[in-house]
Amino acid sequence: MIATPIQQKDIATQVDFLPLQGTDYVEFYVGNAKQAAHFYKTAFGFQSLAYAGPETGVKDKVSYVIRQNKLTFVLTTPLRTGNEIADHIYKHGDGVKFLSLKVEDATDAWEQTTQRGGKSFMEPTTLKDANGEVVISGIHTYGETVHLFIERKNYNGIFMPGFVAWKSAYNPTNTGLQYVDHCVGNVGWNQMNPWVKFYEDVMGFKNILSFDDKDISTEYSALMSKVMSNGNGYVKFPINEPAEGKKKSQVEEYLDFYNGEGVQHVAIATKNIIETVTELQKRGIEFLKIPASYYETVLDRVGEIDEDLKPLSELGILIDRDEEGYLLQIFTKPLEDRPTLFFEIIQRKGAKSFGKGNFKALFEALEKEQDLRGNL
Ligand code: FE2
Repeated sequence: MIATPIQQKDIATQVDFLPLQGTDYVEFYVGNAKQAAHFYKTAFGFQSLAYAGPETGVKDKVSYVIRQNKLTFVLTTPLRTGNEIADHIYKHGDGVKFLSLKVEDATDAWEQTTQRGGKSFMEPTTLKDANGEVVISGIHTYGETVHLFIERKNYNGIFMPGFVAWKSAYNPTNTGLQYVDHCVGNVGWNQMNPWVKFYEDVMGFKNILSFDDKDISTEYSALMSKVMSNGNGYVKFPINEPAEGKKKSQVEEYLDFYNGEGVQHVAIATKNIIETVTELQKRGIEFLKIPASYYETVLDRVGEIDEDLKPLSELGILIDRDEEGYLLQIFTKPLEDRPTLFFEIIQRKGAKSFGKGNFKALFEALEKEQDLRGNL
């Protein structure tokens, strides 16, 4: 059959100009990377992977790379004041600086995104050592957050050039964390749609779900959210903005304390949320507490599930269902003293959504914490 021009155009627009292979790593700027690395190893079960610092020729900063299954974190701290990293920490506290995405071609990723209006953070740069080469490029996104494009197909080293293997005698067992499921950004008033447009125009993402203030409001506060996904669905970035309510939105509290827009939470997948959360709680990770009454009616809402309700209710794990299946999720309290970044632990059993049915219970629990901090 001969394609008409319209059909050809449809095919042309379906070509993903920014094919992503998933999250490569998440890099945090922190006040004390040595202690942060110890915390993530001890509490979350990461293993030591790589190191860069004065001993390896880096004079102004130190980075520890830790890994658990397909999840890689980089924890970076400055050694002196008066530089971009120190200023970032002074302004934001500990937080996510780089959401790095794995690509086949980092030069093409940079060209495709910058020619569509993306603001360059870093032109394609090749790093080499005896193990091969890594090409890195990057563009700015909301706040001071950056997307790096990492091309490592010609590299066989432990992490990337400039890093040495970090061998440690201290190796806590892992907690079953697998990979980044999604990363949520908090943006300012009326900034959700401009950032949705950024992900559509610059990165070729699609808006797969939207929540307005009627979906996400309690008696007191509200927010709006749109979920952006890349073509193959490996990378999902929900974007939140505050909405008017009787009291201060949780997104406003974040924006106040982070001093601007940034990553609100990183959602991490597990294959067994009961085992993972049991282990995390044993190691001192604190989660948001949901009222016991939630479990009295949850099965009426979500129907039959494989797990016993008892351990789920004891751990405070939430359940939601969509057309494709169900999901189990739980949220940590903020991971630093500022009420900013937290983690979500999620186990998907078919569901591709984000737990809309839990929003009300979850946000009421969040507001209770916000109120305790005097910020509601
Ligand atoms: Fe989430």
